[in-house]
Amino acid sequence: MAPRKSNKGKVHADEVIPLISQREITRRVGELAGQISGDYRGRDLVMMGILKGSFIFIADLVRKMTIPVQCSFVRAESYGEGTESSGKVKISGFDAREVRNREVLIIEDILDTGLTMRKIVQSCRRRGAGEVKICALLDKPSRRVVNIQPDYLGFIVSDLFLVGYGLDWSERFRELPYIGYLKK
Ligand code: XMP
Ligand code: MG
Repeated sequence: MAPRKSNKGKVHADEVIPLISQREITRRVGELAGQISGDYRGRDLVMMGILKGSFIFIADLVRKMTIPVQCSFVRAESYGEGTESSGKVKISGFDAREVRNREVLIIEDILDTGLTMRKIVQSCRRRGAGEVKICALLDKPSRRVVNIQPDYLGFIVSDLFLVGYGLDWSERFRELPYIGYLKK
């Protein structure tokens, strides 16, 4: 097989201003995995990733866990094509068998207004989950409209539209290994 070309030059530097480096993310994800592993040792844990935004976060997180975990995924859509939430949240792909009577830790990329998370927590409870807790990589508390807080949190961020490490703007930039914000 021919050698692959390096991806190193692909930084979108002209459009994205770096905010949280790959190194900082790796360190914080490791700390969170350690904390969660300690808290859930000996318990029946399901980590529920919210697609699409959390796919990289949950993949990195589970590989740093030191206890057995199961993974489940649901799809949540609130944003249209732009950078403002539509306020309406659509959830799909929920498999009730994967949460019933289990301890569920919801894994989310970013908590913003909290509307998405409120709906997912309600869905888990309605489908018979045991304890339901929240792990978010990022939190924008200044934007919250409902009373919901993460139990595990990576970084508090200000009200900027963030991309990278799974987060997108109109499906772009998910592949960036760091988190940044869009140049206006
Ligand atoms: P709410 O407002 O329901 O929003 O808490 C949560 C969902 O909105 C998306 N979101 C973002 N996506 N950059 C993104 O790429 C952002 O800065 C951002 N803020 C919120 C995200 O999908 C999250 O699940
Ligand atoms: Mg999301």
